[in-house]
Amino acid sequence: MSGGVVFQAVSKRYGGVTAVDGVDFEIAAGTLVTLLGPSGCGKTTTLRLIAGLEQASSGRIFIDGIDVTAKSPGERDVSMVFQSYALFPHLKVLDNVCYGLRSSGVGRARAAEQARATLNLVGLTGLEDRLPSELSGGQQQRVALARAMVLEPRVLLFDEPLSNLDASLRRHVRDEIRALQQSLGLTVVYVTHDQAEALAISDRIIVMNNAGIAQDGTPRELYETPADRFVAKFMGEASILPVTVEAIDGDTATVCLGAITLELPRRGLGTGAGALAIRPHSARLFAGPPESNTLRGTIRRAVYGGDHMEYDVTIDGFSDSLFVVDTNVVTPFAASAPVGIALTSVGVALLPRATS
Ligand SMILES: Nc1ncnc2c1ncn2[C@@H]1O[C@H](COP(=O)(O)OP(=O)(O)O)[C@@H](O)[C@H]1O
Ligand SMILES: [Mg+2]
Repeated sequence: MSGGVVFQAVSKRYGGVTAVDGVDFEIAAGTLVTLLGPSGCGKTTTLRLIAGLEQASSGRIFIDGIDVTAKSPGERDVSMVFQSYALFPHLKVLDNVCYGLRSSGVGRARAAEQARATLNLVGLTGLEDRLPSELSGGQQQRVALARAMVLEPRVLLFDEPLSNLDASLRRHVRDEIRALQQSLGLTVVYVTHDQAEALAISDRIIVMNNAGIAQDGTPRELYETPADRFVAKFMGEASILPVTVEAIDGDTATVCLGAITLELPRRGLGTGAGALAIRPHSARLFAGPPESNTLRGTIRRAVYGGDHMEYDVTIDGFSDSLFVVDTNVVTPFAASAPVGIALTSVGVALLPRATS
């Protein structure tokens, strides 16, 4: 049931539009990898290329070590779960799940037995005789999942599977998909435009932008050490501030941000001007007299967020402001209060590519 997926310089062109542009990646068997990016960046096309629903214009695609570039969908042994579920409305749950098995020649009794077992896996035992219209959105999504899983594909593909669910259910179904994937060792390629969903569910995330890969890494790598401004902003809130790289010693850069000096991984940079990405939890605000290796600033905007405060802080001597999230809601800073600003070491990173 498991298989890895490899793309080698894969492109897909539709007339003048390049939907996927020379993409390389490797998805290890038994892992859940997310394709994350804004609308139109090429995520669905990439999934359809894996499924064989589109033919690559150039490049090669391997599943389980086999070159499937020229193979039809039926020869690839992958299943896709769509955003719309695409259930047959006139078929009962059990028959929806049996359908693929029956079409590939499995006998009625055996197909029903496998379908029941899979429905049990996704927590739908007892609902076999319902019609899709008699189910909640989350239940319908699980039927769609069962229908794909019952075929025991080498690779399961999900295209924004949670977008029709309300927020509370989204988290629940997301966690179920992840739990099933891990317990069964499934290979899953999962598409979303939601960075929080991607962080929560993935072994690795491939961030796409403009038909290409912006960065490929673990959720933590992408969040804490984005490669560029685009990834930094797309993976959550980030403030990007100009810095000077004063010195390089091995892999360490000495970086000056106003009065603050930091030692950070150099990430391929040399001395000179650079850009620093700072996550909202990576700055600590404090009242009272200046401390060494800190900045001074002024609270520009203070927003109560229930379990946290959000601040926009103007930094003395900088034109860019800093966005800070602080868990202290008991004694918050008021708008226009002067503050000291210290940086923590996690979530502060030089950007190797300053562009876009
Ligand atoms: N069948 C098609 N014909 C022409 N252009 C297409 C087709 N499918 C996708 N595209 C274009 O390719 C780009 C990527 O689309 P898509 O893969 O659907 O993006 P995403 O899923 O990330 O939103 C878009 O510019 C889209 O308009
Ligand atoms: Mg899409």
